Amino acid sequence: MKKVTFAEFGGPDVLHYGDAEEPHAGPGRIRIAVRAAGVNPVDWRLREGQVLGAHPIALPAGVGLDAAGVVDEIGDGVDGVTVGDRVFGEGASTYAELAVLSAWAPMPEGLSFAEAAGYPSVVETALRILRQVGVRAGQTLLVSGAAGGVGSAVLQIARHRGITVIGTAGATNQEYLRSLGALATPYGAGWVERVRRLGRVDAALDLAGAGVIRELVELTGDPQKVISIADLAAPELGVRFSGVAGSVPDALAEAADLIARGKLHIPVEKSYPLAEAAAAHTDSQAGHTRGRRVIVI
Ligand SMILES: NC(=O)c1ccc[n+]([C@@H]2O[C@H](COP(=O)([O-])OP(=O)(O)OC[C@H]3O[C@@H](n4cnc5c(N)ncnc54)[C@H](OP(=O)(O)O)[C@@H]3O)[C@@H](O)[C@H]2O)c1
Repeated sequence: MKKVTFAEFGGPDVLHYGDAEEPHAGPGRIRIAVRAAGVNPVDWRLREGQVLGAHPIALPAGVGLDAAGVVDEIGDGVDGVTVGDRVFGEGASTYAELAVLSAWAPMPEGLSFAEAAGYPSVVETALRILRQVGVRAGQTLLVSGAAGGVGSAVLQIARHRGITVIGTAGATNQEYLRSLGALATPYGAGWVERVRRLGRVDAALDLAGAGVIRELVELTGDPQKVISIADLAAPELGVRFSGVAGSVPDALAEAADLIARGKLHIPVEKSYPLAEAAAAHTDSQAGHTRGRRVIVI
């Protein structure tokens, strides 16, 4: 089978597209014929040798956590899924023709494989940080970096829960944020005053790691009402860094339910063939993805 791997840490050019041994589904796992794999920033962070404390890897390594595809092998102890089922979920080395998943759910009707591959990690992250920040219906949540994958999910889930959302994004994404039901304002000079004019802020999420923790604390008035997923220096200002994935076991089922009810849609900004994973990483690293980028097979 074809697979993307890297044997040394580095830039997108360390990614190698070539033949590899087929993986097999161990106990509690399934294997899928991958039809699409989501491209998450953590994929290129690991390729660069970042965040290895949270995600230890041995080289040579595969790439990718998220995927959608067709079940073709079922491990011992797994119930409720049949060879041939269409599923989306999380696993390891998903930039490949075959991959093993550790968490999965049936793909919602009407979703393409490319769309489905964009949801798993971002929805788990969005549900986790909304719970941790403790924002409730009737309150206002500020989201710094609202137009990306995680932001798109946070905005829609929060709006569905009756939370008012103010999102920051670049000039070209203002209408996009409004289409997701948020109040929008551009980041850059004067952004704190622009947010103040939009209303009081009860809680805030830093999704972009743009060096705004001090301002988010100022706007909420309490470091406990701020969570960052992208600024490792946040704890120095008393703000929690949320980094433990997989702490929302029902995330995929909740995502499927919201998608089926038309409450959640994460657009695919661009699809790339498996052999062009390096281009997907280069584009993701440029830092301005709207929704999700995906690898299609
Ligand atoms: N700790 C965790 O558990 C966890 C989980 C998932 C992701 N993450 C991290 O969280 C970050 C976001 O992930 P993602 O998947 O949403 O990324 P993404 O899809 O690549 O989105 C990045 C977004 O950042 C926005 N942005 C760029 N510069 C900005 C600025 N100065 N101020 C505000 N927004 C800015 C961009 O919007 P514009 O195009 O409008 O500029 C873009 O939409 C990444 O660093 C990722 O590694 C952490």
